[in-house]
Amino acid sequence: MAGRKSRSSFVCSSCGYRTPRWIGQCPACGEWGTFVQESESKKVETRLPPVKSVKDVTLSPQQRLITGIPELDRVLGGGLVPGAVVLVGGVPGAGKSTLLMQAADALARSGQQVLYASAEESETQIRMRAERIGSLSDNLLLYSGSVLDEVEVACLHHNVQVLVLDSVQTFRCEDVPSSPGSPLQVREVAARMVQMAKTRNISIFLIGHVTKEGHIAGPRMLEHMVDAVVYFDASGPENLRFLRAVKNRFGPVNEVGAFLMTSSGMKEVADPASAFLTGEEKETGRALACAREGTRDFVLEVHSLVRPVAFGYGRRVVTGLETGRALQTLAVVEKALGRDFRQYDVYISTVRGLRIRDTAADLAVAASVISAVRGIPLPHGSVFMGEVTLTGRVLPDFTFEERLDSLVRLGYRVVFSPPLRVKTAREIRFVPVKNVEELAEKLP
Ligand SMILES: Nc1ncnc2c1ncn2[C@@H]1O[C@H](COP(=O)(O)OP(=O)(O)O)[C@@H](O)[C@H]1O
Ligand SMILES: [Mg+2]
Repeated sequence: MAGRKSRSSFVCSSCGYRTPRWIGQCPACGEWGTFVQESESKKVETRLPPVKSVKDVTLSPQQRLITGIPELDRVLGGGLVPGAVVLVGGVPGAGKSTLLMQAADALARSGQQVLYASAEESETQIRMRAERIGSLSDNLLLYSGSVLDEVEVACLHHNVQVLVLDSVQTFRCEDVPSSPGSPLQVREVAARMVQMAKTRNISIFLIGHVTKEGHIAGPRMLEHMVDAVVYFDASGPENLRFLRAVKNRFGPVNEVGAFLMTSSGMKEVADPASAFLTGEEKETGRALACAREGTRDFVLEVHSLVRPVAFGYGRRVVTGLETGRALQTLAVVEKALGRDFRQYDVYISTVRGLRIRDTAADLAVAASVISAVRGIPLPHGSVFMGEVTLTGRVLPDFTFEERLDSLVRLGYRVVFSPPLRVKTAREIRFVPVKNVEELAEKLP
């Protein structure tokens, strides 16, 4: 068999775009100075590779490493897979170094040889953090420097099983001329780490900075090179952090872990389900919604405020919910009530900076607006769950029964929902609402 003969060409090291001539800026990804020449490939004889039936591949049971931080293990799909490369992204101050130091320490305590390599902080700074969060295990080795080649040698010498690289944008490979953080350098650092993980069965956490747009800084292919990508979402106040998997070759991608940043490190929020409630029952414009993130159900509050304006048209301000969706529900409520809110300011918001994208919260948005307009609080302890369509109908979602179980577990006993025959009886009272008109009729 003869291999394909290709002409020499230039390839973008960031996105893989090809061009016959050298150019400064990549037309595909917009990066500058990323083109490298690919040498002309020769005709090669390729031998017949061994192929076998999938059934004949031997399986060694893969023991996942438990990081000792249940929320992190859950997001990873049940622990860290040996030889996996996990990219952890987040804005500065999100808590990446803190959480991974905690995980490194817990893994070291469980008997793994762990190396924490940092090009971001000095030994003293790292020691101070370790001291503060109580991560001072004997097996936890430290490297402070920025030369990746040294990290590789250290890993082999000390038989390291888990490596944390803080961060992929600040390390450099000595044989790559560009500076740390450049697409070329970042790609090479990541490629070398992936190779080391696969050949030596070392699990590696790569910490990555994110850009203003929220993507991991560096070449686009970075996310494709690794096995899993998790992001720290630090957009809410109150030191609350969500860890989300956006890619995972070894687990589901919709898992979310919740953490609180404290002086002694990242503390898991054991019960995020009720962490977002203010406990004030009798306010007008306040409705309880049940939102699902991954397999976790949260009960949260949706607040609305409707105020007349002196002149002109009212403003629409939506916080924490998808704006288009909330305004759509608002329009449906206007129609159902036979009212016109053009001369009113309407504010719709979640509390505690929680951001959700869950259509089942539509009914809570509708209920909170109705309560705000009428100036009457909603029935005590009721949860509103259902999607509102443009025609005003209320629909259940596919996880309705699971959510009900969560609500029962959390102690809620009244649910406004679309009329539905549920499979199992539960200690919960349904108030069926076919559409938003019916909701308005059944509310005080
Ligand atoms: N003494 C302290 N007490 C409480 N929180 C602290 C303390 N020192 C640092 N922090 C918190 O740690 C965060 C920095 O975490 P870090 O893990 O370094 O983030 P990242 O690595 O993502 O940039 C800061 O946002 C700060 O709130
Ligand atoms: Mg850091």
